[in-house]
Amino acid sequence: MLYDLIKPILFALPPETAHEYSLTLAKLCPELGRLSGEIPNDKLSLKVGTLHWKSPIGLAAGLDKNAEALPFFSAQGFGALECGTVTLRPQLGNPRPRLFRYPEERSLRNSMGFPNEGLQQISPRLEAFNRSLPLGVNIGKNKDSSAEESIDELGTMMATLDDVADYFVVNVSSPNTPGLRALQEKSYLSELFKELKSISKKDLYLKIAPDLDSSKVIELIQIAEDFKLTGLIATNTTMMPDRGVGGVSGALLKEKAKAIRKIVLEQQSSLELIGVGGFSHFEDIKEFWSLGGKAIQLYTAYIYGGPELLKSLNKKLMEFLQQHELQDLSTFFELSLSDRKKLLLR
Ligand SMILES: Cc1cc2nc3c(=O)[nH]c(=O)nc-3n(C[C@H](O)[C@H](O)[C@H](O)COP(=O)(O)O)c2cc1C
Repeated sequence: MLYDLIKPILFALPPETAHEYSLTLAKLCPELGRLSGEIPNDKLSLKVGTLHWKSPIGLAAGLDKNAEALPFFSAQGFGALECGTVTLRPQLGNPRPRLFRYPEERSLRNSMGFPNEGLQQISPRLEAFNRSLPLGVNIGKNKDSSAEESIDELGTMMATLDDVADYFVVNVSSPNTPGLRALQEKSYLSELFKELKSISKKDLYLKIAPDLDSSKVIELIQIAEDFKLTGLIATNTTMMPDRGVGGVSGALLKEKAKAIRKIVLEQQSSLELIGVGGFSHFEDIKEFWSLGGKAIQLYTAYIYGGPELLKSLNKKLMEFLQQHELQDLSTFFELSLSDRKKLLLR
């Protein structure tokens, strides 16, 4: 309701200005999070990695890069929150404009380049957060550091945040930091994960790009398994050069992201897969579940749909439990995949 009133004003502003105003409001009035949102019913909680998410729908990285409005988002109805991408040193990111809307296509394009206030500024906010739901920190390298330096950078961030984060995500899949996606190479990732696993025992995920061929996806699964990562997050934004620089998210990303997630799920590895990219309807979630998926994250659909989207998805999840006489969502995920599929077809 509230979002319906302010959305036309926000959408009349340049996208990044609208984003900044919204975040400022969310930071100054965390109560608005509770007033416009709804905490998920306990029946929707489920285990993701070693953590108990409040629902299968998390907030994707990039919306609250500086962890400024965690109390607001924690009251919106998400099952888990992911802040960042955080870099060791603060950085401004790429020149503006760097965020674009495609409202008819329910999509966004951004070439932000990890603007963030850096570890020192962000860390106290994470410390102050009550972690009423799992909190992930998405970490990335500074633009001007080399691949070798980045291993130390990411290690320092994990060591510093180990007590205040519930899970970590390594982001080497943003299209907006020059050379970053090249770090999806096996030799680099092997060195990186060896180091990171020696620093923290927290759940660790690798976030992957949608613009990978299947052999590359399979190689990344193998690396993640070899280094005992918790799982993968698929996917980041996609490059669509005909639209301009940066990465596209939302409905325009959906099919590519789905194809990557399908490859991951077909491998039937022991890895957790958090789905992100183009989710907006309950049908999208059910389709993901029918392939073996579980938890998802939202960004673009939440920008377009606001808190009402989250409420309606959580309501549909509850109706799903009722319809199939399931005690809770965990009971559903205890079923074999073939039984889950049968139930989803009913
Ligand atoms: C403006 C914007 C900024 C983003 N920043 C980050 C980021 O800093 N780190 C990251 O891992 N993903 C970032 N993402 C990617 C999202 O987390 C997500 O993977 C992607 O948008 C696909 O999900 P969606 O279709 O639900 O938006 C960003 C996306 C958008 C639209």
